[in-house]
Amino acid sequence: MLLDTFGRQAVDLRVSLTDRCDLRCTYCMPEQGMTWLAKPTLLTDEEVVRLVRIAVTLLGVREVRFTGGEPLLRPGLVGILTACARLQPRPELSLTTNGIGLARTAAALRGAGLDRVNVSLDTLDPRTFQRLSRRDRHHDVLAGLTAARAAGLSPIKVNTVLMRGINDHEAPDLLAWCLERGYELRFIEQMPLDPQHGWDRSTMVTAAEILDRLSTRFTVTPEPAGRRGSAPAERWIVDGGPARVGVIASVTQPFCRACDRTRLTADGQVRNCLFATGETDLRTALREGGDDPRTDARIAELWRAAMWGKKAGGGIGDPDFHQPERPMSAIGG
Ligand code: 5AD
Ligand code: SF4
Repeated sequence: MLLDTFGRQAVDLRVSLTDRCDLRCTYCMPEQGMTWLAKPTLLTDEEVVRLVRIAVTLLGVREVRFTGGEPLLRPGLVGILTACARLQPRPELSLTTNGIGLARTAAALRGAGLDRVNVSLDTLDPRTFQRLSRRDRHHDVLAGLTAARAAGLSPIKVNTVLMRGINDHEAPDLLAWCLERGYELRFIEQMPLDPQHGWDRSTMVTAAEILDRLSTRFTVTPEPAGRRGSAPAERWIVDGGPARVGVIASVTQPFCRACDRTRLTADGQVRNCLFATGETDLRTALREGGDDPRTDARIAELWRAAMWGKKAGGGIGDPDFHQPERPMSAIGG
């Protein structure tokens, strides 16, 4: 199992399949000048599947989420999903995507064994979308969402990051829009991961503020305390239910104490936290070990050690906090 010294167990694996993306969201990537991971360092499809197999069969991982960059840009995605869906015990398979490629791939992904998708959508206004993502692709995202629903992917979650003066006035509209279509909306507080280092806690749109804004049009009440115990609710009941909205206070109320995640980058490095400053190289062990039957056990051991070193929290609030070296687009959400 993937345990750490604070008693947590990682059962949720996030695999970044590429650091490339067809958008340039300001909170994630610079307009120009990205340095991409070098091709030979990227895990092959077979290597990705092998590491997922090790995680699922030797390390207790139950859920595998594929991210990017934009995971739909990975040519081998359908094959990777197909192989992961055959693992025993079968992990739950999900995808975090910008939605652009879903219109043409949703049915095939579903057929390959994908269970659920999270689609990022920050605005209902095509011009705001262009400003925020630096690309004129709003229509493609909406078409992707429709295709995901038609393909039977369920639930479909929509992730929204609000930025002051750009899209923060849209919170109630976004909720109404998602409720009408049966999508589960989740607002995520913007985290300090932007390449411009322009993030500022004092201007960030907080979870409390998001709830205030929603309250102008909806009655939102906290979902009865469940898994999160005494922590502030992450899910809220809208207008008496059954509709829900998520408000993820990743900055103002981080819930690191219950974190059950482990991350694998597209170049085969384990990160024990989104904000980790160090990584553990599995790619080299994988390539050097080859077909030697002891390689899987050796990799499992490296992975266990990586998670054992996980810190109590991401440390966004600490005075000596430093953004991770790796850009968000190369870590994955
Ligand atoms: N803060 C919060 N969420 C972010 N995402 C990307 N960058 C940030 C950030 N700095 C979101 C994307 C996507 C998910 C993978 O993470 O919008 O929905
Ligand atoms: Fe691409 Fe997602 Fe980053 Fe936007 S936030 S640039 S969609 S990886």
